[in-house]
Amino acid sequence: MARERDRAYELWRQKWRDGDIPFHRDEIHPDLLNYGDRLLGGGPHRVLVPLCGKSPDLMWLAKRGHEVIGVEFVEDALLQFFAEHELSPRAEPVDGLKMYRWENLTLVCGDIFEVDRSHVGEADRVWDRAALIALPAHLRGDYTRHLRQITSADWAMLLSAIEYDTALMSGPPFSVSEEEIRQSFPGSDVKRLATRDTLPHNPRMRARGHTWFRESTYLLRDGPAG
Ligand SMILES: C[S@@+](CC[C@H](N)C(=O)[O-])C[C@H]1O[C@@H](n2cnc3c(N)ncnc32)[C@H](O)[C@@H]1O
Repeated sequence: MARERDRAYELWRQKWRDGDIPFHRDEIHPDLLNYGDRLLGGGPHRVLVPLCGKSPDLMWLAKRGHEVIGVEFVEDALLQFFAEHELSPRAEPVDGLKMYRWENLTLVCGDIFEVDRSHVGEADRVWDRAALIALPAHLRGDYTRHLRQITSADWAMLLSAIEYDTALMSGPPFSVSEEEIRQSFPGSDVKRLATRDTLPHNPRMRARGHTWFRESTYLLRDGPAG
């Protein structure tokens, strides 16, 4: 297992080194713009952004007054984020992790599985975009259990997931069904907010022979969903 994690770590590091980051978007993710109020109403909140890359969503959330905690194990991704936003964070080593802090934004450089509540604080909201679907099936169960362990009881999560014909590609990104999501969060209410066919905007996936490619947005929370 440790060897597989090391391999995954190296694969992502290599992608960042090569600038092979097609998942990165310079714009704020439309799910956050369309459904962010469903996630963030009644705030400010403490928002965890797992496997955050250098997403501009981090800054969008911070500018709205939330405490934002991103977790990413490729340091170069975090350094690119700060450089692109012209920020000079403080860096502090904590328990083998490195915490970069700037005002209400903390970016933790480390493996999500090494991050616990003492690092994250009482995070009550999660924005998962391309985090669950970045992980292979054998790690997704550990990830979803871990996510619930490091977030507070009254949590809610906005989740963007994709589905495709797995005979054509193994991932990453991995295809994750609504059924898997429901099974992975047994205590939570799971509401699918939207499903879009994103193939027309995805020439890379068309080139791989996909004839359908769906992106769905879910709102999860313990207790009745809003
Ligand atoms: C598909 S990218 C998504 C990045 C970001 N969420 C976005 O929307 O642009 C997945 C990111 O997770 C990072 N990553 C993968 N496994 C990780 C782990 N176990 N702990 C922390 N970061 C991880 C990778 O380096 C990569 O930057």
